[in-house]
Amino acid sequence: MIELFDVTKRFGSETAVDGISLRVEKGEFCALVGTSGCGKSTTLRMINRLIEHSEGEIHLEGQPVRSFNEESLRRRIGYAIQNTGLFPHWTVARNIGLVPRLLKWPKARILDRVEELMGLLGLPVEEFSRKYPHQLSGGQAQRVGVARALAADPDILLMDEPFGALDPITRETLQGELRDLQARLHKTIVFVTHDMDEALALADRLVVMHQGRIVQQGRPIDLLRNPVDDFVESLLGGMDRGLKEAALTRVSERMMSFGPRLLASERVSYDASLSQALSVMLWHRVDRLTVVDDEDIPIGELSLRRLLGARSS
Ligand SMILES: Nc1ncnc2c1ncn2[C@@H]1O[C@H](COP(=O)(O)OP(=O)(O)O)[C@@H](O)[C@H]1O
Ligand SMILES: [Mg+2]
Repeated sequence: MIELFDVTKRFGSETAVDGISLRVEKGEFCALVGTSGCGKSTTLRMINRLIEHSEGEIHLEGQPVRSFNEESLRRRIGYAIQNTGLFPHWTVARNIGLVPRLLKWPKARILDRVEELMGLLGLPVEEFSRKYPHQLSGGQAQRVGVARALAADPDILLMDEPFGALDPITRETLQGELRDLQARLHKTIVFVTHDMDEALALADRLVVMHQGRIVQQGRPIDLLRNPVDDFVESLLGGMDRGLKEAALTRVSERMMSFGPRLLASERVSYDASLSQALSVMLWHRVDRLTVVDDEDIPIGELSLRRLLGARSS
């Protein structure tokens, strides 16, 4: 879907992006991660041509991005940024309808689409469509930003630290919503963040950048297991890597049906992560948990040995 071949970007004498090659498959959720100033935003903005690249080639579905006109780039690529970039004097509905209006959709179709998106993002139309950005919480504004990026139903979504300004709880909620949304919409997403936990929680593939170059890319689990160097290892959390790996696996993947023993007194949801299950074990000083479903009904058990990955307990 998106391919970068040896792409470089210079600002004057400074090289912001230094010969990177990258391939993002259709439907893939790809996270660009790295410390501030490493070239993530520049890379993202070269894909939708907000910034022109200095050297190399960028292709969308095999076509050079330079061959697309502004209108087709707008239609095909949604863009969401930190602090949303919403127009303060426009209502929520008007903000969301921005790109369809630029593409000259008929009014009725824009209205339908705006209402559909508000439903999708959990923003009740009655309550929100006439509000202005300053009347929204950070999380609500960010939802409007995502709705606006999705307005023309683009195949590609570029997101630059979209949740960077939110408090941790709202942030986690929106991460969960984005995951659910992606499971339904199957967009091709390139997501920029400096937060490794966010990248690990969301991405199918991590691309770690440092000083304008890609230092490693792969599935989260593979990077956690085999970081190429100390830099990637420290970015992945050093000694915390075990917990980060455990956070990638659900209890349901390790639980067993009930053994002959009594139910363990402490409970964990099948949908919790192994790191959360381990935390419950540590907290209660137990090595066995009862796994429950959404209705809190016991459906199995998880032992510490199973959690650690042993074949039987
Ligand atoms: N418009 C610009 N003019 C000059 N230098 C820029 C411009 N945009 C970015 N840079 C420089 O390019 C480098 C990469 O920036 P950026 O892509 O924004 O990094 P990141 O998003 O990873 O924090 C930085 O050193 C930054 O100062
Ligand atoms: Mg940036």
